[in-house]
Amino acid sequence: MRNKLLTIMALLLITTLLFTACEKEAVETPEEEVKSDITETPAEDQETDESDVDENTESTEESTMVEDHGFGWRKVADDRGLRFGAAVEPHQLLEEDFAKTLVSNYNTVTAENRMKWSFIHPEKDVYDFSGSDAIVKFAMDNDMDVRGHALMWHIQNPEWLEEGDFTPEELEVILEDHIKTVVTQYKGQIYAWDVVNEMFENGQYRETLWYKAFGPDYIEKALIWAREADPDVLLYLNDYGVEEVNIKSNAFYDLAKELLDKGVPLDGIGLQFHMQNDNPLDILSVYTNVKRFVDLGLQVDFTEIDVRIRQPITDEKLAKQGDIYREVAGIVVGLDGADNFTTWGITDQYSWVPGFFDGYDAALPFDRSYEPKPAFDQVLALLEDDSFELDYDERIESLADSRTVLKPFDVKKLDSAPNLDGVLSDGEYNQTMIHSFMYNQLGTDATFDESDISGTWRLGYHGNVLYGLVERMDDTTVNQHGTNYENDTVEVFYDYGSIFKQMRSIVGEDFEFQHSERLHKAVWNEEGTIMEFAIEMPEEDLTGITVGFNIALSDNDDRNGFREKQLYPFYGHNNSWQGKDLGNMVFEGNTPRPPEKLRITPAVDVGLRLAPSTMDGEDKGYEWLGGTLLPLGYDQLDALDQTLPQEADLNVSYKMTHFEDKIYGIIYREDNTIEAGDTISLSIELNDEWHTLTTEVGSNAKEAVFEVVWGPDQTTAEYMIDLGEAGFIYNYSVSTVDSDGGVIVHDLHPHCNFGKTPEEGNYIELNLQ
Ligand code: XIL
Repeated sequence: MRNKLLTIMALLLITTLLFTACEKEAVETPEEEVKSDITETPAEDQETDESDVDENTESTEESTMVEDHGFGWRKVADDRGLRFGAAVEPHQLLEEDFAKTLVSNYNTVTAENRMKWSFIHPEKDVYDFSGSDAIVKFAMDNDMDVRGHALMWHIQNPEWLEEGDFTPEELEVILEDHIKTVVTQYKGQIYAWDVVNEMFENGQYRETLWYKAFGPDYIEKALIWAREADPDVLLYLNDYGVEEVNIKSNAFYDLAKELLDKGVPLDGIGLQFHMQNDNPLDILSVYTNVKRFVDLGLQVDFTEIDVRIRQPITDEKLAKQGDIYREVAGIVVGLDGADNFTTWGITDQYSWVPGFFDGYDAALPFDRSYEPKPAFDQVLALLEDDSFELDYDERIESLADSRTVLKPFDVKKLDSAPNLDGVLSDGEYNQTMIHSFMYNQLGTDATFDESDISGTWRLGYHGNVLYGLVERMDDTTVNQHGTNYENDTVEVFYDYGSIFKQMRSIVGEDFEFQHSERLHKAVWNEEGTIMEFAIEMPEEDLTGITVGFNIALSDNDDRNGFREKQLYPFYGHNNSWQGKDLGNMVFEGNTPRPPEKLRITPAVDVGLRLAPSTMDGEDKGYEWLGGTLLPLGYDQLDALDQTLPQEADLNVSYKMTHFEDKIYGIIYREDNTIEAGDTISLSIELNDEWHTLTTEVGSNAKEAVFEVVWGPDQTTAEYMIDLGEAGFIYNYSVSTVDSDGGVIVHDLHPHCNFGKTPEEGNYIELNLQ
């Protein structure tokens, strides 16, 4: 036995060397579009798996059954009715440790390469099943299932196919023959096929050989041919970078839905799950995504799991990798419809990772000596935990509650569509919330002079159209400049996952870009003080959907083209045009759907200072230079109209900085009358505990983690917050109440909200720089 093994190994080595040469250029990193720091260097030493396959045919004559050592994942996975799979190469199965580890932990295998076109159909008239047969035989002998991977892919194709210059008619014959021959070969032995692998690039169809010949129809054709060849095998489409809700997975979802609607045979989708330890997936987004496919009635297999770690490999990183494995496995264990957990290999010894991702290694559950890593232990513990229940729904809910830094932009359902006439008529936009354009996202300070530019906006919807009305006060209007962005404009941004739109309207004009077939229109009044807009959304029923949204008011008084002000409803760095820093726009309704993406509006930057504050209540001109001036202008006294009238008798702003373990702030508070009942409040969450201090204007306070000192004329107060040992994200609130004649007339905050305490989400987040 041992002798035979050695002969096989020697032959393997020789053929490996032969194969390496022709295999090299066939591969590329599949993640070029998702992660940036991936290089495309196939490792020299990774090609050992590209062995010739004749030897395996020999080994198919005798049983390849291996004793299941019963210590691992397999038994518990079987008990739970789950498939735990691994990608394998024939030569690996001949290695005792490998085979033992495999059969003890897995009940399913995938051919890592041997069913790909270049191996199985190397010449136009030659099919070579030797490698794939060896894998299938091993699986049968050891009572394992087989996933077929993959009938079509844009790489690892034979030269005759890639270079054949075939006409679409010829390609159609070739493809049908390939699919039917391969599927028929393993009819009854393979439970599922990846019919098409990696058909998308970002949110578009990948321009493959097949796409170029048939357009997107090739997918449908392939599925139908596969079904004709085997009525019982499950048919899948498989891709990478589609694990979370994102542009690519939205395109995938749309395709799946379309195919199902048309009655095309599609049983499931494969999500590859090639992950990165230092840039983990957002597991709640993954869960939301998996669930939407499951809700279509599809199986969702996790087909190529690995978590690559950047070298050097440390115990800490391995522990974190274990957490990632566990979180992903949690979905398979806890969600019906996601029942296959396949790792792309079992041991780091044979992983494709070092060869394809420079500087990365150790991506699999077993190390090079088949020692289980924390990833293995964590998944085993999860499988063995009978009380495990997936709590991702609750986590999504509580995250949506607690981390909404800014109250979502609620969009009211309107009884009737407003007239798009640039006039705010009675009854239009009833019960909608009026927001301010509060933060200037250009320049060093976030505040601005309201006599120069200011504005408000409101939203509503009717049918599937979003309506909005902007009011704008500007001392000089610039709208005749040759370069569009040098004019005064209103910009509306929305992100519906696969669709991101930036719509710009120069004062007095319709939206500039005719982006889509759908209605999108902006209408101004003569004076340029009111703009109304209508945007048809890409969905029939808007009730309960969540869309990313932002709106900007730009002011360009300087005719030399320097844009001076760009006002938004929240703090940020003018990133919305890149699809970033959007808020959640929630269309109200009785059947809310979960947000597809949790958008966290940017945290307020807290500048680093060079020395502690003098804490005398005064701005002496130099010590607050490092802080950004932030407005405190949302009046939360009224649930619907949270704007502060321009003629208000109150004008408040503040700055924040930090030094060592303390935050230092200063509040500038101009009030026409200071009286009892005028207060400021500070709240901070430290180590999950909220602390609040409220103090009357003019009265100093020192309490718990706070200290407040007022300046002599009571227009400034300096404050200090002792952070102690707290972590790095700080939820914070600052507000001020103004009473006039014993009645509260204003309750100012940095953002809009109503009737909520900081603990309930009425806060901002801080980013200590
Ligand atoms: C990889 C194999 O692991 C390598 O051995 C081979 O050289 C290239 O392909 N997505 C897929 C898999 O669908 O087929 C790829 O497998 C990894 C990325």
